[in-house]
Amino acid sequence: MKPKVFVTRPLPNEAMDKIQSACDAKVWEHELPPSRNALLRNVADIEGLLSLLTDKVDEELMNRARKLKVVSNCAVGFDNIDVQEATKRGIIVGNTPGVLTDTVADLAFGLLIAAARRVVEGDRVVRAGKWKTWGPMILLGQDVYNTTIGIIGLGRIGSAVAKRAKGFGMKVLYTGRGRHPQAETELGAEYAELDRLLAQSDFITLHTNLTPETYHLIGEKQFEKMKRTAVLVNTSRGPIVDNTALYSALKSGKIAYAALDVTEPEPLPAYHPLLTLDNLIVVPHIASASVATRTKMAVMAVDNLIAGLKGEMPPNPVNPEVLKKTPQRTTR
Ligand code: DGY
Repeated sequence: MKPKVFVTRPLPNEAMDKIQSACDAKVWEHELPPSRNALLRNVADIEGLLSLLTDKVDEELMNRARKLKVVSNCAVGFDNIDVQEATKRGIIVGNTPGVLTDTVADLAFGLLIAAARRVVEGDRVVRAGKWKTWGPMILLGQDVYNTTIGIIGLGRIGSAVAKRAKGFGMKVLYTGRGRHPQAETELGAEYAELDRLLAQSDFITLHTNLTPETYHLIGEKQFEKMKRTAVLVNTSRGPIVDNTALYSALKSGKIAYAALDVTEPEPLPAYHPLLTLDNLIVVPHIASASVATRTKMAVMAVDNLIAGLKGEMPPNPVNPEVLKKTPQRTTR
């Protein structure tokens, strides 16, 4: 008998084929994620859950899913999962690091350039029929080359952004939980405390996980410290930025521009005050959305799922301690 799994949205074919051949899979075949009730209903007798960042996998869900062995998140971030609770229950959790690094870094840098050079505003002007002629003062933006970028969180994606910045002749400042000697040598990145990074950077880009410590890491006080010309880019998680403070910083000219791939909540409601601002770009959480990368993520998530179902260590575990054998005591 194949193990029962629930897949909370259809994935690229290559991943679906793999899952169907190894598992008795029920797939949520809708564009919108399952409602909370539907999710709870569908996990009752499963051994494996293939979740997305839109699915909250918490204690309540784990209470319902008494046979659950593995939760495989098709994302590198896993703030939607209570990993501590899963670990307590011996449920292995997997994620999809590495395969999306460059794709996300490309979008972060694309947003940075689009904000600096007012690309989206320009598009709106042309489409509205408001562009009359070339003009020396039309849509002047900021240069990207030879400026300073501040990277908050120099992990895989932050480092990939640093590489791109280097190609633009930018000075790279970074902050985070620790120093990265290799990035300092190879990329010329310079460690800075958060306040110095905020004060000296022309572009500030967020690449940290969402944790209780990083929730609203960028709020009123942090905007006060930024340059009035600063551009903020967020491709990590929406709640790292306090939206109310961001709105007032953009509206009052405390900073120049923001470009967001992620927001709190997602999606932002159409009437949200942020969406009235011209100096803001928002895209719908598409940083990893290339055909190749989404396929690699899905296949990796399926590999994690299948390994976990077999009681084996998934290729990318978040809580490997669940499956690490406690060493046998030797008697003398
Ligand atoms: C992730 O994998 O965490 C991304 O946010 C999805 O694009």
